[in-house]
Amino acid sequence: MSGDHDTEEAPPEVHHYNNIGEVPWDIQNYWSQRYKIFSKYDEGVWLTDDAWFGVTPEPVANEIAEHIAKSAPSSRSILVDAFAGAGGNTIAFARSGRWKRVYAIEKNPAVLQCAKHNARIYGVDHQITWFEGDSLQIVNNQLKELGPFSVLFASPPWGGPGYRSDKVFNLSTMEPYSLATLYGEYSLFTGLMVLYLPRTSNVKQLAKLVNDGQTATVMHYCMEGASKALCIYYGGFDLD
Ligand SMILES: C[S@@+](CC[C@H](N)C(=O)[O-])C[C@H]1O[C@@H](n2cnc3c(N)ncnc32)[C@H](O)[C@@H]1O
Repeated sequence: MSGDHDTEEAPPEVHHYNNIGEVPWDIQNYWSQRYKIFSKYDEGVWLTDDAWFGVTPEPVANEIAEHIAKSAPSSRSILVDAFAGAGGNTIAFARSGRWKRVYAIEKNPAVLQCAKHNARIYGVDHQITWFEGDSLQIVNNQLKELGPFSVLFASPPWGGPGYRSDKVFNLSTMEPYSLATLYGEYSLFTGLMVLYLPRTSNVKQLAKLVNDGQTATVMHYCMEGASKALCIYYGGFDLD
């Protein structure tokens, strides 16, 4: 590690791998793309071994942040990132400069420490309020009053049967939270939400949640000519 950030103590499950020889075999593919994931990787970015699989690569996170920044109504000044992970999206939201405050929630304490550390590397930690815990609880309790001023972004885990193998991903068997569970809980908090989901997500299931007369927009986010994931924008975004 280098710079000012190497004086912090990393929890035992957190690593900054410098050489491929140190990297577990199932992460080596991700590690070889480390600068696409975090351009400042060499400044001492921290990840747990599991976080590598879920982190949103920086160019994709920046594009999403830009789309949300320009399409959300100006009355919304708070961005809540419900599944902060190692900070890929949270950092991009803070860097966009669009939000008065970014609130970032992460259940796993070691992963949350990575996100905080990585946000310091990118110089945006002071714009973010961190919560350790369950975002389904936190948004409707501690953050409840902020709902009318907020846009919620969620990049949940994509576990469940058939995520990698099925042509069409069934969002009702997504684990641990189905689309209906996430939408149901988060829509108690705000009507404006963006969900980051597998590119093969079942579009009929996405559309089912849209009330008559309302619209929702699906955006595919690509890297090297292939869709990496999609975002569904629910509520009054102006994406034209
Ligand atoms: C796909 S990752 C998010 C990656 C993140 N967008 C990034 O770019 O680094 C999903 C994260 O959600 C966390 N998580 C799972 N259930 C949660 C919950 N109920 N509340 C908050 N975080 C949760 C997991 O620990 C994991 O870090």
